[in-house]
Amino acid sequence: MSDVNRRIVLASRPEGEPTPGNFRLETAPVPSIGPGQVLLRTRWLSLDPYMRGRMSAAKSYATPVEVGDVMEGGTVSEVVASENPDFSIGALVLSHSGWQDYAVSDGKGLRRLDPDVAPVSTALGILGMPGMTAYTGLLNIGQPKPGETLVVAAAAGPVGSLVGQIARLKGCHTVGIAGGPEKCRYLREDLGFDATIDHRAPDFAAQLERACPQGIDIYFENVGGAVWDAVFPLLNEFARVPVCGLVAQYNATSLPEGPDRTPQLMRAILTKRLTLRGFIVRDFATQRDEFVRDVGAWLRAGQIRYKEDVTEGLERAPEAFIGMLKGHNFGKTLVRVSS
Ligand SMILES: NC(=O)c1ccc[n+]([C@@H]2O[C@H](COP(=O)([O-])OP(=O)(O)OC[C@H]3O[C@@H](n4cnc5c(N)ncnc54)[C@H](OP(=O)(O)O)[C@@H]3O)[C@@H](O)[C@H]2O)c1
Repeated sequence: MSDVNRRIVLASRPEGEPTPGNFRLETAPVPSIGPGQVLLRTRWLSLDPYMRGRMSAAKSYATPVEVGDVMEGGTVSEVVASENPDFSIGALVLSHSGWQDYAVSDGKGLRRLDPDVAPVSTALGILGMPGMTAYTGLLNIGQPKPGETLVVAAAAGPVGSLVGQIARLKGCHTVGIAGGPEKCRYLREDLGFDATIDHRAPDFAAQLERACPQGIDIYFENVGGAVWDAVFPLLNEFARVPVCGLVAQYNATSLPEGPDRTPQLMRAILTKRLTLRGFIVRDFATQRDEFVRDVGAWLRAGQIRYKEDVTEGLERAPEAFIGMLKGHNFGKTLVRVSS
């Protein structure tokens, strides 16, 4: 065990795109534990788009990280010292230790992981928060039915790739939008999407229309921006739009130029009887058992697959995070902090 705790703190709040200068790598002594506590060593750190929101002071559904504080994040951690009878040394747990080597916990909120059931890193991806987001948002709000057309963007990421695969299992025509030919080929050939489109193609909107000859019944909104502009006119009557994320807008510093299109949107919601519903995964926390049961079974049966994009070393977390927001990741973004 090292005697130093490396931690990455928020050095300053970003204006637009985050830069390496918004983060600072610090060292501190490894914390000591008291009665009832455990010392956790981070093995895997999850990097997720929501962290961009935590870097900002703007009002949101969660409190921001303060400047100077350790960046927040989900982790898979190992118990390396324990004064808590519920957790023995060597146990692996799902924690929220943040971007650092070590953290102290009183055990509340820790979830024990069994490496014999699934690789523990999946607790941060397909069997964790992103997977549950896909499952609950699609099934509760999207309500897929056989023969319907589903469109999802950021389709090669952990949320989008599971949305498309569950929709396929439910009998939908699945259209995935992703950045670049390699991601598009993976979605078609490895994950079974019926059609894919590169959102950077100059004729993106025309390609999307051709891929959705029956219109769009479910649009799982992960990105907003130009993708939403192309999807909106193709929505069918009674289409459902689970609004999960708007990653294309997270770095925006002002409203887009052009006329206010809210009246058009409201008219379409009325005349097409659209359902647009935002959600945060914790809204569906009571459905965790169904999620683990169904997604676990599909995984074991080989009906769904997942991909991880691993960066080695805590010190490289800022560059991996900045890259993910721009689509440099190919699969669930993880940092291997220790092995
Ligand atoms: N509501 C909730 O509770 C909840 C929970 C988890 C995640 N989310 C949201 O779900 C979405 C996906 O999350 P994830 O973890 O699966 O992320 P992810 O797909 O691994 O990473 C984000 C992806 O967004 C794509 N992207 C970035 N800018 C774009 C743009 N301008 N146009 C189109 N695509 C763009 C990039 O992929 P390409 O290479 O394909 O462009 C990038 O890889 C995010 O919006 C996230 O905030 C919401």
